[in-house]
Amino acid sequence: MSRKDELKKEICEKSLQAFHAGLFAGTSGNMSVYLRDEGIMLITPTSVRYETMRPEDIVEMKPDGTLLKNDNPSSEWRLHAEIYRANEDVSAVFHTHSPHATAFAVNRMDIPATLIEAYFFLGGSVPCAEYATPGTPEVGIYAAKVLPGKGGCLLANHGVVAVGSDLSQAYIRAEYIEDAAKICIMARQIGTPVELEHL
Ligand code: 13P
Repeated sequence: MSRKDELKKEICEKSLQAFHAGLFAGTSGNMSVYLRDEGIMLITPTSVRYETMRPEDIVEMKPDGTLLKNDNPSSEWRLHAEIYRANEDVSAVFHTHSPHATAFAVNRMDIPATLIEAYFFLGGSVPCAEYATPGTPEVGIYAAKVLPGKGGCLLANHGVVAVGSDLSQAYIRAEYIEDAAKICIMARQIGTPVELEHL
């Protein structure tokens, strides 16, 4: 199997796993990997249920919008493209609507660093980027502004973006962003969580 085919399979497997883990509902969320040497992005198609998505459905395209294989990329492909353009260390982008983290996003609040994992995986707190209309390049431009040094960020009134050097890293960061938000919400119900300034 070619490297590209392996990555398409991995995108389908991880997207389905994330759906079952509750990181997004319905067909929302999207995942991509960037083959920087070839200038090719592999990205989930728009509005396809994760139970039925197959590796051959993954869209191959360039970050400028040129379609190479399949013609139905995620409506958020510009978000992915802008993040790849802004940060050469990022080769995987995972956009979720995980519920606890998205609760912070709709309040336009950062998720504070209250767990040690925030430092191991996320670069501390998770910042919330400025609001932009879904599907526009600004979603990615505003995310890229707050991402340096971070494993991910929130998109105001929208959801979560986790980034990584590969799909596994972006995935585990998305899991820890949701966990950080969930624990913080629970902690606020019984007391006042203490933010960790450093490890
Ligand atoms: P798709 O277009 O990738 O299905 O995504 C919808 C979405 O999650 C918008 O935030």
